[in-house]
Amino acid sequence: MDRADPDLVVRGVGIWRGLVPPAAQSALVADLRAVAEAAPFLRPVTRRGQALSVRMTSAGALGWITDRRGYRYEPRHPSGAAWPPIPDRLLRLWAAVVPDAPPPDSCLVNFYDAAARMGLHQDCDEADLTQPVVSLSLGDDALFRLGSVARGGRTESLWLHSGDVAVLAGAARLIHHGIDRIRGGSSSLLPEGGRINVTLRVAGPPR
Ligand code: SIN
Ligand code: MN
Repeated sequence: MDRADPDLVVRGVGIWRGLVPPAAQSALVADLRAVAEAAPFLRPVTRRGQALSVRMTSAGALGWITDRRGYRYEPRHPSGAAWPPIPDRLLRLWAAVVPDAPPPDSCLVNFYDAAARMGLHQDCDEADLTQPVVSLSLGDDALFRLGSVARGGRTESLWLHSGDVAVLAGAARLIHHGIDRIRGGSSSLLPEGGRINVTLRVAGPPR
């Protein structure tokens, strides 16, 4: 994990292909299983009561959640327990791709089964929208759609594979993005199939 520059930049989003090698991907899956034991995956709903198709949990001081009260960061899982710490391996990944940023305080873990998707959205619930967002793909391939910072307009899509890392920073920090579909069975990393996306962010105010 020492490649300073992305392999490609699409609409300002840096993409590192296969930055996390297969052995480290397996170690990360074990780390994330431990996170999910302490903070079980949730089936979140939007403010309007619509269930998301992804399941979610978090690690770090702040976890992103959505429920009938809307989108926000919370210091605790809805069970009342504090979120578990962000695994060291993920902190090292962050430092490798955004060495100038302060450490992340939030690690969102999304699980996609083959039917799950995520609509186009911006990441904009963080206190300091100048801090980068680092996103890691594990497991099945995902079709990642990128729009613009403004709403509407043309989009472009690319496949993300297990071990790929995407960084939303600078002029692309607030770009619209989403996941159109998962290519079920494209990876054997997760025994039951599916995809995990890990999103590392600086969510809270500057410390
Ligand atoms: C997200 O934007 O929250 C997830 C993106 C992804 O699954 O790659
Ligand atoms: Mn997002």
